[in-house]
Amino acid sequence: MGRAFVYVILGGGVAAGYAALEFVRRGISHGKLCIISEESVAPYERPALSKGFLLPEDPARLPSFHTCVGVNEERLTPEWYREHGIELVFGTKVKSADVRRKTLLTATGETISYKILIIATGARALKLEEFGVRGSDAENVCYLRNLADASRLVDVMRSCTGGNAVVVGGGYIGMECTAALVKNRIKVTWVFPGKHCMGRVFTPKIASFYEEYYKSMGVNFIKGTVVTSFENDSGGKVTAVILKDGRRLPADMVVVGIGIRANTGLFEGQLNMEKGGIKVNGRMQTSNSSVYAVGDVAAFPIKLFGNDVRRLEHVDSARKTARHAVAAITAPCTTGDLDYLPFFYSRVFTLSWQFYGDNVGEVVHFGDFSSGRFGAYWVGKGRLMGAFLESGSREEYEAIAKAVKLKATVKDMAKLEGEGLEFAFQV
Ligand code: FDA
Ligand code: NAD
Repeated sequence: MGRAFVYVILGGGVAAGYAALEFVRRGISHGKLCIISEESVAPYERPALSKGFLLPEDPARLPSFHTCVGVNEERLTPEWYREHGIELVFGTKVKSADVRRKTLLTATGETISYKILIIATGARALKLEEFGVRGSDAENVCYLRNLADASRLVDVMRSCTGGNAVVVGGGYIGMECTAALVKNRIKVTWVFPGKHCMGRVFTPKIASFYEEYYKSMGVNFIKGTVVTSFENDSGGKVTAVILKDGRRLPADMVVVGIGIRANTGLFEGQLNMEKGGIKVNGRMQTSNSSVYAVGDVAAFPIKLFGNDVRRLEHVDSARKTARHAVAAITAPCTTGDLDYLPFFYSRVFTLSWQFYGDNVGEVVHFGDFSSGRFGAYWVGKGRLMGAFLESGSREEYEAIAKAVKLKATVKDMAKLEGEGLEFAFQV
């Protein structure tokens, strides 16, 4: 049993949705493109799962956040794909891939062949078991990667109103889920191994601002330690979390966000890998010229960083690498290498921030931390490498993005600190 397509997108997440829109914009004919996804719904804006989806009132639900609403483009519902002659093979996991034969074998036993493959398999959440902790499959322990996880998290939250949650992991999931739990009237103890939250982006000073805000919302912090085991009731539900430092935290529910692994497994030994992802060139092409990789699974050269290869785990890069791959496939002569400016953001409670570039070099903070109007610049070899801004306006975010993109020259760090946002506006 088998079907053949000119183009196959493997994975039905953010990158798949943006790639599909780009194919349609570029005039793809009916019947040429197929999307295979383990998820049973059309591609959606995954960031909604830790934000609008978890709100206690008027929560976001599909179809409202299908791609590509995240950048105010068309909302691609299942009907949209049908109208454009795109074949959807949903609720179907691909079990093996053969890039020499150009075939994918699905769990239902179907062989799907392609001329060009776009790998958009994203990533999976790391499990506590991978760190030697048992029992995270209990019904009140939640991970968060896909719609099914988010729906379960909502159910568990609803059953714990007024109770206690332990949030494990000091990164994005920890930060955004803690805020969601508080909004759902659940008391949170946030546990992570680092000295401060969001170690991948925040400086200690920025983290301290956020941690004080979280404390003012009633969040209890336990830093510098990890979970070692769970206590359970007779039904298997977790009732307490035991930490390495010996503490015991009673818990009605647990949320775990301890990082991800890119879903590269189908292609190990077949394609070149780097930085935990599938290595691609500036056109998103892998070491096999008929295969492209985009989104969280792709490690691509960043021109701005001297073509250093990075694997980014953010929605903006998923959107842009996907569109670029389709441009490179359909208009090879006019598509050069992607010139990408890394962009990360988050929104929690009434706070929000954006970061552009790379957080390397010497840091200068600016603005007023007491009023929540502040930012930071990272400077290396006299050039601006990265910029962070809290609660900025569109113009302000555009200004810092432009200054980083141009790697603005910084002559005097003290002057930069004094100028703050003005520096970016003068670039
Ligand atoms: P994505 O994970 O979206 O999609 C991968 C798809 O491949 C899935 O449909 C999966 O089922 C499918 N798949 C994998 N293996 C398969 C197989 N063998 N067979 C069939 N299908 C397979 N970023 C950001 O910048 N700002 C934000 O606010 C957030 N917020 C956020 C919240 C939450 C809860 C998460 C989990 C993540 C974010 N992110 C984010 C990160 C962002 O969502 C992420 O970078 C993109 O979803 C990556 O898009 P991809 O398409 O690469 O993977
Ligand atoms: P993360 O990499 O942001 O943070 C992982 C955290 O887990 C770190 O604080 C780390 O110190 C901690 N940790 C690692 N091992 C641990 C262990 N054994 N025990 C306890 N803590 C441990 O990952 P995440 O928060 O799980 O997020 C998952 C993915 O979702 C990431 O790719 C992230 O970019 C994405 N995401 C992004 C956003 C956003 O951009 N706003 C929001 C939500 C999720």
